[in-house]
Amino acid sequence: MADQSSKSAETRRDWLLRKRREALKGGGESRIEAQHAKGKLTARERLDYLLDKGSFEEIGAFVKHRSTDFGLDKNHPLGDGVVTGYGTINGRLVYVFSQDFTVFGGSLSETHAEKICKIMDLAMKNGAPVIGLNDSGGARIQEGVVSLGGYADIFYRNTLASGVVPQISAIMGPCAGGAVYSPAITDFIMMVEDTSYMFVTGPNVVKTVTNEEVSSEDLGGASVHSSKSGVAHFTAPNEIALMDNLRSLLSYLPQNCEEHAEMLTYDLNDEVRAELAGIVPENPNQPYDIRQVVDGIVDPDSFFEVHSAFAENIVVGFARLAGRSIGIVANQPAFLAGVLDVKSSQKGARFVRFCDAFNIPLLVLEDVPGFLPGTDQEWNAIITNGAKLLYAFSEATVPRVTVITRKAYGGAYDVMNSKHIGADMNFAWPSAEIAVMGAKGAAEIIFRREIQSAEDPEAALKEHEHEYATIFANPYRAAERGFVDEVILPEETRIKLIKAFKMLENKVDHLPKKKHGNIPL
Ligand code: HXC
Repeated sequence: MADQSSKSAETRRDWLLRKRREALKGGGESRIEAQHAKGKLTARERLDYLLDKGSFEEIGAFVKHRSTDFGLDKNHPLGDGVVTGYGTINGRLVYVFSQDFTVFGGSLSETHAEKICKIMDLAMKNGAPVIGLNDSGGARIQEGVVSLGGYADIFYRNTLASGVVPQISAIMGPCAGGAVYSPAITDFIMMVEDTSYMFVTGPNVVKTVTNEEVSSEDLGGASVHSSKSGVAHFTAPNEIALMDNLRSLLSYLPQNCEEHAEMLTYDLNDEVRAELAGIVPENPNQPYDIRQVVDGIVDPDSFFEVHSAFAENIVVGFARLAGRSIGIVANQPAFLAGVLDVKSSQKGARFVRFCDAFNIPLLVLEDVPGFLPGTDQEWNAIITNGAKLLYAFSEATVPRVTVITRKAYGGAYDVMNSKHIGADMNFAWPSAEIAVMGAKGAAEIIFRREIQSAEDPEAALKEHEHEYATIFANPYRAAERGFVDEVILPEETRIKLIKAFKMLENKVDHLPKKKHGNIPL
């Protein structure tokens, strides 16, 4: 520290950067320049931007690795490739780590892992989110098993912290091996387009083992993980946009599982939303964008979509309703007619469980023709995966409200937050159709003989289809039984929901005592 105090004009941050540069063999400056040349910020620049100005307090800046093999005894960069500490975002406490790719490729050593574990332990004890800015080649190869042990220490804490405090992973560069498994256990993964990658093994290993030639981008780029694998929940065109999104995401979340998300002040005003009346088309087979319904219901510009490019037949995200943070799960008739399939069930279930873990009330908008049939779905375990969504809703104890805008068919009626599996309030628009299946399919099955023996089978089918539709293609049969609490006009949906969530805000519900359930994974 004598070195630092003698340079009073030099800030602590500049001093640390200078020491790091001096410590790095081969010239640290050029490594930072190389980082900038790739369109990437440095670990400290990222923290400077992400956190409230001047709020960052570093922990462990003087930590050095303990390795002696492969020449590492002559190279001891301060901090050992990760900047850790705490600060605030919009005035709220967060714990952060930011990996420094300019130091051994951000690879994880024993001491690097200890630094991350230290802030995770603090986060759990003090009930605040953990944010990881990941930019790492994985386990530090020179260290062998101690670096693997370090990763396992982190995975273990990720698991213990799951459901206790929100954990958010930003992927800021190439992340391989252990550097992807820790994010995978966290709640949300954000990736930067073109400069971030996630893979268990990189293209070189893939080529060696399988002889497959693939680029980093095609193997594990932001586009692949946000649309094909679903590993990433958000993508951003650059690091700055990613960090802006991260700050926005946090605003919908509580600090920990004991708290509720911040309630913003909101003056009730004109809550009748006439535009909602014109969205569902007359023709039940015509698509519409459920996001229009979402936007019509929630506070202006408050919808924050999660996983937008993955399993687009279901839309999930956070929003505010009269200032209250809510989670929305909505079938999307504009994509695959809004059917439930393997991926949309996984996507919905994970989101529902996150909201339930962190006391965020759930709103479900339902327009679902059923589960997607076919060998592809069956062989990819639609049975197990569909059951995930059913299970997730069934065990959720947060306030849960459903609005059926149009179709609620078959098993999907049960799954999409029906009253039978614990929804608190279930509304339906007059356009709702609640039945075992569509009228045509139903008529073809139950009137098969009558249709076959009719003089004009086509006319007979139409007649029976009409008969079935008259009885079931409406919400009133369900309302008669109390499965629907109220049939409401679309334009009054917002005010009905504001009142319903207010009415439910002190809800207490307990699951039977158990160690933990066994969700069909
Ligand atoms: C030590 C590493 C390293 C690592 C990178 N570096 N990864 N040092 N351990 N794991 C060093 C490089 O030697 C190089 O040092 C510097 O970081 C930059 O790396 P480059 O390869 O030049 O960068 P780039 O071309 O951008 O490629 C990045 C990369 C690649 C894709 C991450 O470096 C890579 O494939 N690394 C190895 C990935 C990997 O297999 N990790 C182990 C996974 S096993 P110099 O001095 O030359 O600049 C694992 C097990 C955990 O993590 C358990 C899981 C369950």
